[in-house]
Amino acid sequence: MSTTFQLDTSTSRAHPTPAPMKRLTVPSIRQRKVDGITAEPVVMLTAYTARQAQLLDAHCDLLLVGDSLGQVIYGLPSSVPVTLDMMAAHGAAVVRGSYHAAVIVDLPFGSYEASPEAAFVSAARIMKDTGCDAIKLEGGAVMAETAAFLVRRGIPVMGHVGLTPQAVNVLGGYAARGRSEAEAATILADARALDAAGAFAVVVEGVVEPLAVAITQALSCPTIGIGASARCDGQVLVAEDMLGLFDRVPRFVKLYENLADTISGAAARYAAEVRARTFPGPEQTYQPRARAAE
Ligand code: KIV
Repeated sequence: MSTTFQLDTSTSRAHPTPAPMKRLTVPSIRQRKVDGITAEPVVMLTAYTARQAQLLDAHCDLLLVGDSLGQVIYGLPSSVPVTLDMMAAHGAAVVRGSYHAAVIVDLPFGSYEASPEAAFVSAARIMKDTGCDAIKLEGGAVMAETAAFLVRRGIPVMGHVGLTPQAVNVLGGYAARGRSEAEAATILADARALDAAGAFAVVVEGVVEPLAVAITQALSCPTIGIGASARCDGQVLVAEDMLGLFDRVPRFVKLYENLADTISGAAARYAAEVRARTFPGPEQTYQPRARAAE
């Protein structure tokens, strides 16, 4: 099982730094899908911090440092204002906090669309600054040339089609896509183009289920669904969504915890104890050492 850690501290020139185990590789994820079948679904969650990565690492095949950190961490209105500096800092933290899952870092809006060369400069910076395993970029057929350019130059690419949040200002919102035949055909063509360009996996976000299934059947590489279908080759969620940190829960999210109530309850108990002067108690305070008898 991918969640079983094995101690592997032996070094070689290929692995000069002792590590608890060998990290999953991008090719091993790509190779999970054989002749259109993925026997072991790919498990991916977002992570933005080292501690979050430590907690999620053992359970995931892929950790995604998503540009959703703009909203989740920085309180921004969308992912559009997210910068390369933010992605580099959080990507490095997640790599430091994990040693099992492969780490994928989003290229933020404006850092890759202008040309394949611009994308290479941004992606190379992210790979060098973070030590991540691959980058993700949004967009379909229009980004296929860029994806192929990066892959040929040693940068593994995860694609992202369907609802692409960086295009929120063009799409006009975050509604599910692919409801009309024409739109579904375009999104399917987008996914095929990325597959042909050498993407090792493609995120399929916010599309009607039959389209997600059609894309999964059409692609040679694994599809990772979010708001898509259980029949995708893997799934991703924003960790804070499934942990219940926000009030509004989108339809495609299943709540696995309710951390907002847990955190708020703990803060309320702490505040009450501070106001009552019952915190810190004897267990949390230092006293002078008893003097040895003279
Ligand atoms: O930024 C992100 O978190 C993502 C996932 C929702 C796929 O792109």
